[in-house]
Amino acid sequence: MASAGAMEQRRVTAAAHGSPALATTYEGGDVPLLERLLERARYIEITPDTIALRTGGGCELRPEAVAELESIGGRARLLVHGVGLSIGSYEGYSEAYLRLVDELFLRFDIAWHSEHLAYTTVGGENLGTMLAMPRTGEALDMICRRVCAIQKRYPAPFLLENVVHLLPDAPGEYSDAQFLNRIAERTGCGLILDVYNMECDALNYGFDVDGFLSELKLENVRELHLAGGTSYAGLQLDVHSRVTAASTVALAANVMERASQVQAVTYEYLKEAVPSLGRDAICGELARLSAELHL
Ligand SMILES: [Fe+2]
Ligand SMILES: [Fe+2]
Repeated sequence: MASAGAMEQRRVTAAAHGSPALATTYEGGDVPLLERLLERARYIEITPDTIALRTGGGCELRPEAVAELESIGGRARLLVHGVGLSIGSYEGYSEAYLRLVDELFLRFDIAWHSEHLAYTTVGGENLGTMLAMPRTGEALDMICRRVCAIQKRYPAPFLLENVVHLLPDAPGEYSDAQFLNRIAERTGCGLILDVYNMECDALNYGFDVDGFLSELKLENVRELHLAGGTSYAGLQLDVHSRVTAASTVALAANVMERASQVQAVTYEYLKEAVPSLGRDAICGELARLSAELHL
């Protein structure tokens, strides 16, 4: 077994050479877990929405969450991964969410930030989930304008992530891969490829993963997401409540062989799943991914 010092050296060397490094979720309120994550992960993924509280006029970062992130110091870099921007809502994206991101950029060294290529509100009503975009020229123009505005606002790269398809596709002009390719081409933004989401889509409605990957310009993929979920009523759910399945790790390895610009592989789990999953299993999963994917 490698010593902690040797593992740390391997991570530093990997980061210096630009090869992929391990990242994982931290949603606050569990410093003993954070300390253990920092022994293995080079990046910590934080979600502004989950470390914020509502105030009279909007929302702000919880002071105790800020203090926890400050305690990380130089031991890991932060990845900001949002769920509340709703970049695809016709009526506009969430300025309240971006004000949280503003604060994070003011306080911390953020490696990059990201959101889902999706919409979570319609007419100001929260859907309680994320829905995939209609892949039309009009939607493409709207997303590209918004990505460019976000890129101007922050000094770090911005990435977009593929989401699961909960509803049948609306009529569109582009395939999933073409739509992502066009956004990346027109804006220069990078992509997160959520490997578990692709598996959910394949199991739920026969999404052609191989066809998608052969059409997607994999040089735009900067980060992979890995997670494990469960099935309910015949559907594989995009819920991050388990360790990853062997098939998910194998698919990630396949993508990594072909996607030369991947900088981070992120194991995601929900804070609500920590009691049933257990801290040991989360840390064991990081060790496993690190070994199997050479992170
Ligand atoms: Fe995500
Ligand atoms: Fe994800």
